[in-house]
Amino acid sequence: MLFSSRYAFLALVAFVADVALGASRTSPPSGAVIVRAGTTTAGEFSTVSKAVNSLPNDSSARTIFIYPGTYTEQVNITRTGPLTIYGSTTDTTTYLKNTVNIQFGLSAGTAGSDDVSGTVRVHKNDFKLYNVNVKNTFGQGSQAIAISQYGTRVGFYGCGFYGFQDTVLVEQGVQVFLKGFIQGATDFIFGQRGQAFFGGNTIAVTAPGYVTASGRSSNDNTSYVFDGNTIVLGSGAASTTPGKFYLGRPWSDYAKVIFKNTVVNVALNSAVWSTWSTSTPNTDHVFFADYNTTGSGIAGAHRATFATQLTASQAAAYSISSAVGSDYATWVDTSYL
Ligand SMILES: *[C@@H]1O[C@H](CO)[C@@H](O)[C@H](O)[C@H]1NC(C)=O
Ligand SMILES: *[C@@H]1O[C@H](CO)[C@@H](O)[C@H](O)[C@H]1NC(C)=O
Ligand SMILES: *[C@@H]1O[C@H](CO)[C@@H](O)[C@H](O)[C@H]1NC(C)=O
Ligand SMILES: *[C@@H]1O[C@H](CO)[C@@H](O)[C@H](O)[C@H]1NC(C)=O
Repeated sequence: MLFSSRYAFLALVAFVADVALGASRTSPPSGAVIVRAGTTTAGEFSTVSKAVNSLPNDSSARTIFIYPGTYTEQVNITRTGPLTIYGSTTDTTTYLKNTVNIQFGLSAGTAGSDDVSGTVRVHKNDFKLYNVNVKNTFGQGSQAIAISQYGTRVGFYGCGFYGFQDTVLVEQGVQVFLKGFIQGATDFIFGQRGQAFFGGNTIAVTAPGYVTASGRSSNDNTSYVFDGNTIVLGSGAASTTPGKFYLGRPWSDYAKVIFKNTVVNVALNSAVWSTWSTSTPNTDHVFFADYNTTGSGIAGAHRATFATQLTASQAAAYSISSAVGSDYATWVDTSYL
């Protein structure tokens, strides 16, 4: 009796420790092309771009594994077949243990377009990125994209995206961002024709601004749905941030953004949502909605007249299915939901 309960206790401790640690992925899956900073080993690549460019442009499924390091480069991914890129980590379930950083500091002003400023640019379908931080280090003063995404059936799992203005471009295609981190200040999740779902992320605001800027310009089926994310003050944030940021502003006048079950730990502006500008409000046809927003940051909210606060039954219509299609389980890594 004493013995068995003691073993049961030890088994429980082992189980809890296992769950708390999460899964480790510190060596390449078999068949993966290897990226290792400073490598001189034959068959390995010292940059992510060289590894991507080594792949055949055919329909075969390929995998890349990246060892810890900071890779200062732009990566342009266009191959036809499925591609999965893994960053080395001791805990695949979170961005917190990421060891791989891909960074560059090009502004859209210099690059000539938002897309071309992107540190990582995804112009292909069937792409997955796990446990990699992608940064645009340009800073304040221009659009400067970290991830530029145009593909369909694209997933980001436990990834970190860092920038200031326009960090994440979900320009078109169909995509999910799960259990990751997104940092910025101005319009830092934006795009025109993308269908996107954001679940279980930490969203860090670093200056007065707007989390989203949807450029939806007609009554099509695209939207950004956020469910179960947490909004925090980013490290090194401007002291003026609290009270001066919004869940979004409409880049175009059919902007459609839904935030469900969000915990907001830094004060939003009491209007919660903003016009685009005084001269161009763009609010005629917007759908800016939230449901079950909690945390200190929502206290005292008096939502703008063009915003919608959803009831539980209305909120049920907005989900990963409504955002990216009811077939999502065929291409999303649902272990991150
Ligand atoms: C990205 O790669 C594609 C295919 O190799 C090429 O056509 C395109 O010019 C590249 N874009 C940039 C900005 O390097
Ligand atoms: C691969 O093929 C696609 C489709 O033809 C093309 O758009 C893309 O630029 C090609 N990428 C590379 C790296 O050759
Ligand atoms: C509201 O959101 C919080 C945080 O995501 C969640 O824990 C809670 O279950 C939600 N409540 C409802 C009624 O959905
Ligand atoms: C939106 O419409 C496109 C084109 O008809 C379709 O492929 C896509 O699955 C639809 N998306 C959703 C979320 O229903």
